Amino acid sequence: MCVGSNGHLRCAGYRNGSFCKFRNRSLHGSTPPCACIHWEGKILKFEGCYHGHADSFLVEAGSGVATLGLPDSPGVPKGATVGTLTAPYNDVEAVKKLFEDNKGEIAAVFLEPVVGNAGFIPPQPAFLNALREVTKQDGALLVFDEVMTGFRLAYGGAQEYFGITPDVTTLGKIIGGGLPVGAYGGRKDIMEMVAPAGPMYQARTLSGNPLAMTAGIHTLKRLMEPGTYEYLDKVTGELVRRILDAGAKTGHEMCGGHIRGMFGFFFAGGPVHNFDDAKKSDTAKFGRFHRGMLEGVYLAPSQFEAGFTSLAHTTLDIEKTVEAAEEVLRRM
Ligand SMILES: Cc1ncc(COP(=O)(O)O)c(C=O)c1O
Repeated sequence: MCVGSNGHLRCAGYRNGSFCKFRNRSLHGSTPPCACIHWEGKILKFEGCYHGHADSFLVEAGSGVATLGLPDSPGVPKGATVGTLTAPYNDVEAVKKLFEDNKGEIAAVFLEPVVGNAGFIPPQPAFLNALREVTKQDGALLVFDEVMTGFRLAYGGAQEYFGITPDVTTLGKIIGGGLPVGAYGGRKDIMEMVAPAGPMYQARTLSGNPLAMTAGIHTLKRLMEPGTYEYLDKVTGELVRRILDAGAKTGHEMCGGHIRGMFGFFFAGGPVHNFDDAKKSDTAKFGRFHRGMLEGVYLAPSQFEAGFTSLAHTTLDIEKTVEAAEEVLRRM
């Protein structure tokens, strides 16, 4: 991947790209080009997927609102969400039905290719392929929100890992090395809708700001080194497997999984294929587990958040985390 001095990005899977100041701007930013290509403008998202706080995405939006027990978000005008359709994640039939009922009206399908905002929920084998097919047939765009999965599942993100090419990709988090930045990129004809090449205006004072770009470039260089993703896969796999073993040994019903450096577990029997399945978890138990771990291990504070490992985590860190988890689970 390379980043031009004008703040534009080029890398595999993203023919052209644009950096924005805030991460959620990558989603705000990517919506208008989708609507420019396809004027009807309905969008389809999945229950439990979070795509930032842009109004039209604050429907069934996963972790933050779910953990706090909030309805969708008060203050969002009804008009902003009338064009937002939702379906259960991993439910191909529900998606096909929505396409039938809204023929030619859906501009884009947005999703987390692996859900992180309803807990860790991977796609079923046929799900992403089916989305690719159905969007192509209807002339809708497929948008992968890779804010979490980008550079985490593979250098080329979930799209490289699963071998599916979306029309538009949004990125955040790792691409800025932890500094506030977002980016979106996609098919050349779509990105040519963005000013100055096209009519869709986009500008921000700090777009492509040098500090965030520098942090991002250094992080991406480090991730390019051989063995990175094998290492993440090994330590994360061991972490999750041993936490689940500890749950089984201590009599707690748990399920979970990982892909490379992204993981999660539920206090539920599983399997968890969508947000409704995730909501069957014992969240009070998760709360007790989380508080018990706080003596040295800081997990994401919600049953509905995925966890991440980084290259800084050593096998000793994994060992200590598993020991702590075993002890807390035994006490619970
Ligand atoms: C998958 C996904 N998309 C979009 C966002 C929005 O990013 P931001 O918090 O910068 O608005 C997040 C935030 O965590 C996210 O997890």
